Amino acid sequence: MSDNSKQHEYWNGEVATNWLSRLDHFERGLMGINEALMKFADLKPGMDVLDIGCGAGTTTEEIAARVYPGRVLGLDISKPLIEAARARSSGAASYIEADASDFPFTPEFDLVFSRLGVMFFANPVASFANIRRALKPGGVMKFLCWCPQNEISYLSEPYRHVRDLLPPLDPTPDNEPGPFGLADSARTLRLLEDAGWHGVRIRRTTPPSLIGATPEEAAEQVMNMGPLARLLRGTDDTTKAKVHARITPLMDKWRTKNGIEPPACCWLVEARA
Ligand SMILES: C[S@@+](CC[C@H](N)C(=O)[O-])C[C@H]1O[C@@H](n2cnc3c(N)ncnc32)[C@H](O)[C@@H]1O
Repeated sequence: MSDNSKQHEYWNGEVATNWLSRLDHFERGLMGINEALMKFADLKPGMDVLDIGCGAGTTTEEIAARVYPGRVLGLDISKPLIEAARARSSGAASYIEADASDFPFTPEFDLVFSRLGVMFFANPVASFANIRRALKPGGVMKFLCWCPQNEISYLSEPYRHVRDLLPPLDPTPDNEPGPFGLADSARTLRLLEDAGWHGVRIRRTTPPSLIGATPEEAAEQVMNMGPLARLLRGTDDTTKAKVHARITPLMDKWRTKNGIEPPACCWLVEARA
């Protein structure tokens, strides 16, 4: 049994509801990142793919369309997100509510894929060793995860700007299970090698992330991500309005012809079973 209980609780609670209610905003923000990841994944018709931490199934459905007649399985610990994935599915992908850390995988897949879904393991070495069992001989894992949070300007700068209005941050430090659990690429390399993976390659990418059409909308989105989302959960509307008013002008510096579009910062990670 894995001890991912905190993550089970987290991804089955208010976060899942919030994620689903803002799915369009999150997807829009992830478009540039998704494009970089899909290019990196190099999907081909006939490939069998496992999508770990598939959430509401957006990537899983895209993979299904690209690998047909190959098959894709989306796996996630969040019941509400898996239910949403099934409800939104075209029927071309399958979904399972399960924990990647201890699911009894058999060697069925050519590719293990993940968009931001493998940074949450309490025991990353044991979990990545377990995931390796899902690959056929010669199979590959390709995933994308976040860089250290202080390198993601649209999360760290607004937070610094309103720190005095909010309770102290109980930080999710880099390298702890959470969004920044694989932020240190040298550590990720060691973890994967310790888990039995070969030929590990890690490359940094900084694709644009469209967080809103206007500064007001972008500020709202930033308040639903990263440290601000954690701190604002359960706070009163007056504080939320103050935070929004203070961070809105900051957004202007990331204005492009598309809207408010700061660069993201992610790692593209590749390893052989
Ligand atoms: C940041 S979300 C990304 C969702 C999706 N890949 C996307 O890009 O929209 C992380 C996902 O990983 C899932 N997750 C976390 N720990 C997991 C585990 N041990 N096994 C399977 N899924 C997990 C969460 O439930 C959540 O849906």
